[in-house]
Amino acid sequence: MSTICVIGTGYVGLVTGTCLADMGNQVTCVDIIAEKIERLKRGILPIYEPGLEEMVERNVHAGRLYFTTNYPEGLDGSEFIFIAVNTPTGTSQGGADMRYVESAARSIAEHLEHDAVIINKSTVPVGSGDVVSRVIHNNLKRPDVRFAVVSNPEFLREGSAVLDFQNPDRVVLGSSDMEAAYKVAHLYMPLRAPIVTTDLYTAEMIKYASNAFLATKISFINEIAQICERLGADVKEVAVGMGYDKRIGRGFLDAGLGYGGSCFPKDVRALAHMADEAGLHPQLLRAVMEINHDQRRLVVSKLSSILGSLRGCTIGVLGLAFKPNTDDMREAPSIDIIRWITSQGATVHVYDPVATETGREALEREGVRIDAITFCKNPYEVAEGADALVLVTEWNEFKSLNMLQIHHSMRRPILIDGRNVYEASEMDRLGFIYRGIGRGTGPAPSILPAGDTTSTVHEQQSLELQ
Ligand code: UGA
Repeated sequence: MSTICVIGTGYVGLVTGTCLADMGNQVTCVDIIAEKIERLKRGILPIYEPGLEEMVERNVHAGRLYFTTNYPEGLDGSEFIFIAVNTPTGTSQGGADMRYVESAARSIAEHLEHDAVIINKSTVPVGSGDVVSRVIHNNLKRPDVRFAVVSNPEFLREGSAVLDFQNPDRVVLGSSDMEAAYKVAHLYMPLRAPIVTTDLYTAEMIKYASNAFLATKISFINEIAQICERLGADVKEVAVGMGYDKRIGRGFLDAGLGYGGSCFPKDVRALAHMADEAGLHPQLLRAVMEINHDQRRLVVSKLSSILGSLRGCTIGVLGLAFKPNTDDMREAPSIDIIRWITSQGATVHVYDPVATETGREALEREGVRIDAITFCKNPYEVAEGADALVLVTEWNEFKSLNMLQIHHSMRRPILIDGRNVYEASEMDRLGFIYRGIGRGTGPAPSILPAGDTTSTVHEQQSLELQ
């Protein structure tokens, strides 16, 4: 059993602290936002993350997990101090904002009364471990205190963060003090994962390179999708066929509306910025970002190619969160998509299983015309009277909808499947004008007026289904 302090109660900090407590350690989570800590003490989590709420409750109840805003209380007796605060994009060129990391380091220095290992989990520019060391060193209240800094990048995904923490593919530890790195390795031993120990800079780089590579895979398959669409191939099957090659792997080859979230966009930008600053030309990273941006526009161009002008249309949108199983709206494609649709004079009906509130806030914050958006209670309400339906987030709930009922209730049966969730042939059979991403379906139809003849086809088909 070790005594641990975790600074920051966002996705990474809260999951790390709770999972370490669940492994039998004594954990105190510190956050400077009093309201967040007050709510956590009452068992109310600031994020939606499957399995986390029960785990917090269990460990608080067992006396292993505690929340405070008070640094001295959090640091008291802690052998290990994790820094897990956020590092948003800080400059217009994409560099990471180190303000919160530096402020956490300063607070640690001002209150630390004993020797400790400081573990940095925040994604920080290569070389930041040294910055943390310097800040602590320069602000130490007790100069006799000895400390070491270890970089321990986090690879957990939102939506499966608890599972990812408990079953990591690897644990990366970087430090110039190997003894400190081995102490941290000991903490992770029960997870039985491969542990990579290396120097500080390399560990920091492993995190950026991993995220940038995954983002590259996504932009690669999205570019292939565009080519598939033109040439009449199906990108879903292309991905399956490619994925069997062990050197390629099937993961992160799902074509769609591109990546969003708090990590890939900011980390690819930050890595490109670091390369720029070093006098390099990160051409591949630039292309990855450009493809990702263009991918979101596809929805609007697909809608316009079928409907012509969107003015006066009602467009149904399924999903707001940047991906399923989270209410996180950071850099969610839905924001740009809804902005573009409403700016063309259409109204939007939208539903998300958990991100309605965070979605409404994000859309307002981003200056999207909120008066043109109706937040619906379920997917069927979204489809009611819509001129087209766009699937933006691939929640499981959307995979098992009664599509015949949806079809019946729409004004025009146009379905843009931004995540390739539905079977193209099945949707065609039901009478939808179906457009996925990268699924060659022949030439686009000419502009479709309301009450188009496809409904006749549909009625015939629905009779067959009865
Ligand atoms: C990502 C990484 O996967 C984690 O390993 C890392 O720890 C985390 O960033 C971080 O840096 O903290 P996350 O942002 O939670 O995790 O989400 P992912 O599941 O990786 O998805 C990222 C985006 O890529 C989503 O918008 C998703 O829709 C998109 N995506 C993913 C695709 O478009 N296609 C795919 O095949 C896979």
